Amino acid sequence: MTLTGFGRPRHHLRTTDSTNERARELAEAGAPSGAVVTADEQTAGRGRRGRAWSAPPGKALLYSAILRDLDERHALLPLAVPLAVCEAIEAVAPLSCRVKWPNDVWIDGSKVAGVLIEAQPPDWAVIGIGVNVAIEPDEFPAELRWPATSVGRGATVPGILASLNEALSGWVVRPADETLASFRERDALQGREVAWAGAGEGNGVARGIDDRGNLVVETSGDGRVALGAGEVTLRVDS
Ligand code: BTN
Repeated sequence: MTLTGFGRPRHHLRTTDSTNERARELAEAGAPSGAVVTADEQTAGRGRRGRAWSAPPGKALLYSAILRDLDERHALLPLAVPLAVCEAIEAVAPLSCRVKWPNDVWIDGSKVAGVLIEAQPPDWAVIGIGVNVAIEPDEFPAELRWPATSVGRGATVPGILASLNEALSGWVVRPADETLASFRERDALQGREVAWAGAGEGNGVARGIDDRGNLVVETSGDGRVALGAGEVTLRVDS
């Protein structure tokens, strides 16, 4: 696997529909691993499971990176990326981040960043990341599924960009056991009541992740189910 240093080249756009869409076009045209697209503003930012992602212009890091080629060593990429985001944020502000499986980044129970990975294996993945950097509480849309927060504390979009490029370069090549161990340390759901829908539905208590990155949930009657990230929508009940 070639080592990827993210951020070179960087394509910055003032406005675009979605940086993931621009990065996808670049990936399909053969852009190198490490290329990054950023924007001040998105008009059709995409979130997970078909949802929209929006942020006031200039107040969030809107970032899409190309990673290629993909192989089995990237199997835990959806877990590694939010760990990189945690590291990047903690490098610029005195904060402690956790990950809400599969890949939301939380500070004190509020979402500060989201990840949307779109891939065409084995050729490429576009790693889309949105980090709320300096969005005021009253600037978040009212209909958000989770409470939202910003990094704040004087952090800047360029500062987090630099920090994220560096952190991501390390995390995409971390061995699986390190990724799993770090995710388990930052797991925001451990021991919490969750309910899921999608591939069936149910509820129970989150009991960490298995070695494939699935969320293990203990259901009533001491049963256990392993939920795949692409398959379910999760609700956190307590
Ligand atoms: C989520 O939490 O649902 C994922 C949000 C991902 C948003 C980022 S912003 C930059 C990139 N471009 C997009 O259209 N989406 C991702």
